Amino acid sequence: MVTVSVTNSMKKIITVISLTVLLITPGYSQNGDPKREAQYFEIKKVKIPEQIILEVGGLTLDPKGRLYVCTRHGEIWIIENSTTDKPIFKRFASGLHEPLGLAYKDGAIYSAQRGELSKIVDTNHDDVADSYETIYSWPLAANYHEYSYGPLFLPNGDMLVALNLGWTGKGESLSKWRGWFITISPDGKMGPLATGLRSPAGFNLNADGDLFYAENQGDWVGSGRMTHIEKGVFAGNPQGLKWTGEEGSPLKLKFSDITDTLGYTLYEYSKIIPAIRPPSVWFPHTIMGISTSDILLVPNNTFGPYKNQFLVGDQGHSKIMRVFQEKVKGVYQGICFPFREGFSSGIIRLKWAPDNSIFVGMTSRGWASTGPDPYGLERVVSTGKVPFEMAAVRAMPDGFEIEFTKPIDAAAAKNIDRYQISDFTYLYHHIYGSPVVELEKRPVFDAEVSSDHRKVRLYVSGLREGMINEIKIGDIKSNVGEMLLHNVGYYTLNNIPDGPRREAGMDHTGHSNLTTTDLKSSKRVTSMPSSWTGGPEQSIVIKPVPGLQYDTKEITVKAGSKVRLTFDNTDDMLHNFVIVKPGTADKVAQEAINLGLEGQGKGFIPDSDEVLYYTNLLQPRTSDTIFFEAPQTPGTYTYVCTYPGHSFTMRGVMNVIK
Ligand code: CU
Repeated sequence: MVTVSVTNSMKKIITVISLTVLLITPGYSQNGDPKREAQYFEIKKVKIPEQIILEVGGLTLDPKGRLYVCTRHGEIWIIENSTTDKPIFKRFASGLHEPLGLAYKDGAIYSAQRGELSKIVDTNHDDVADSYETIYSWPLAANYHEYSYGPLFLPNGDMLVALNLGWTGKGESLSKWRGWFITISPDGKMGPLATGLRSPAGFNLNADGDLFYAENQGDWVGSGRMTHIEKGVFAGNPQGLKWTGEEGSPLKLKFSDITDTLGYTLYEYSKIIPAIRPPSVWFPHTIMGISTSDILLVPNNTFGPYKNQFLVGDQGHSKIMRVFQEKVKGVYQGICFPFREGFSSGIIRLKWAPDNSIFVGMTSRGWASTGPDPYGLERVVSTGKVPFEMAAVRAMPDGFEIEFTKPIDAAAAKNIDRYQISDFTYLYHHIYGSPVVELEKRPVFDAEVSSDHRKVRLYVSGLREGMINEIKIGDIKSNVGEMLLHNVGYYTLNNIPDGPRREAGMDHTGHSNLTTTDLKSSKRVTSMPSSWTGGPEQSIVIKPVPGLQYDTKEITVKAGSKVRLTFDNTDDMLHNFVIVKPGTADKVAQEAINLGLEGQGKGFIPDSDEVLYYTNLLQPRTSDTIFFEAPQTPGTYTYVCTYPGHSFTMRGVMNVIK
């Protein structure tokens, strides 16, 4: 039985990713290909009139199939003919305070504004709201980050609202029930449901009526993740625990019960404090997006063979992931796959359209996103073709079973060299995000193909509970020669199923060595060279500014001069500062993305001759100072943040002059 022993883990030295462990093998590329994805799922724009700033916060439909869109500017628009190229926009409501969710029920629109849940009705049926009613209101501390999301109607008729933490350089619950899910009855009775939330932008019920929410990486959240929520659950960020002494709190755990647990994972800590609910699915940061948003249930197989799976949006990477979950020993766990990328702005909301396409509501909200537009509304439309890829992965007592969407080439699928499995996890601590830790390869020692050629049973050595398993497939085609559309998934293994297990007769590889993410090298010199007796000839300080930009777009240095450069990360995200040879910023940024799981540990600095000088990857509110001699060759050099998703906007020019 492979379990994580808490006693051992208390003594263990956490092994931060060793740069030599993961193989990035040709044929195992993990980036989506929007052009190939488009053969199966097209992205179509909903034309927005020029004068409307449709920064989408919420989407819902009425029984006539008309789309309602609320914006963070406080408007609600009705869009008729929304799936045609001649949509009609009507302003239904205005003057709301940053509504970030919408729901329709029995002739009324419900929306969570920043400080209240409102019922909005068009009583005289002229498509303009004329009744605004407060169902329930909550206190605010006037912090910009106190977003309120919802409502989601629950089966009992109550409405669910999620309250984001404020941000003061760290997540903080500055007013009552921030960091909580609360339920509100139609007549305004509030009940706190669960806490541990940080930035809960998306939540939904699965086909069995169980509630899940998607969380964003941040303090106490090592990476994006999805958690099964029930009454009294604590999902991990301790700030909401400040309010567990209040009347109605469904849990007794106190804020002071959660100490900063250097070295623990959330899974391990849940063995110490049972109220903690570890995630059902992790979304590895920068690989499966960077900021999860809405969750959409796929109700049937008419959109693809994904019935009862979730689609999950990502704001920063403008993409959608797909999630298959199963229950093992009463606990949810499962796998996320890439699904579709290439949207035009940051995805906030997903909603089924009447024609079986999916509305995708977007805003970059000043944080910027891979999609370059500040806002947008698009649809994902199935072309009717089914891609060849993994439909589902299920945990087995001694490995995994992969189910494909189509029959496979069995000869190739029997070859164990076509599979790569590694497992790893993230740390649970007050620090923003986490490096990938405890990364190890898991040898596949046998692969059996089912008689219908739809499934492969992988036998894997040394699986560890509590770990995320990267499952990559090499060159395996369908039985008619199609390539996999996506060849990677990340399975969160909370429990290994009981049952007979085969042994490999071989042990897994050892732990990786402790390595540092302090990237000392000749390209990052952090103390002034002793030969600089006259000191630096030039000192430069650069900071990030909102919208994924540097505050300085251009610097000028003399060829060969001595430069002291400080990158002061005053932002609430991670950034670096990388000086590259002229014309190579895009190439270097792509190489940084290609580092995959290695990226964080390497500070997203690819091993490349094009990279001249760089800083560490900086946590929020930290800075790094480097000393370098400017290139001897005059020219236009580029500095760029190679953190995935940042490089398009976060760059500037270093002019080297004679
Ligand atoms: Cu950056």
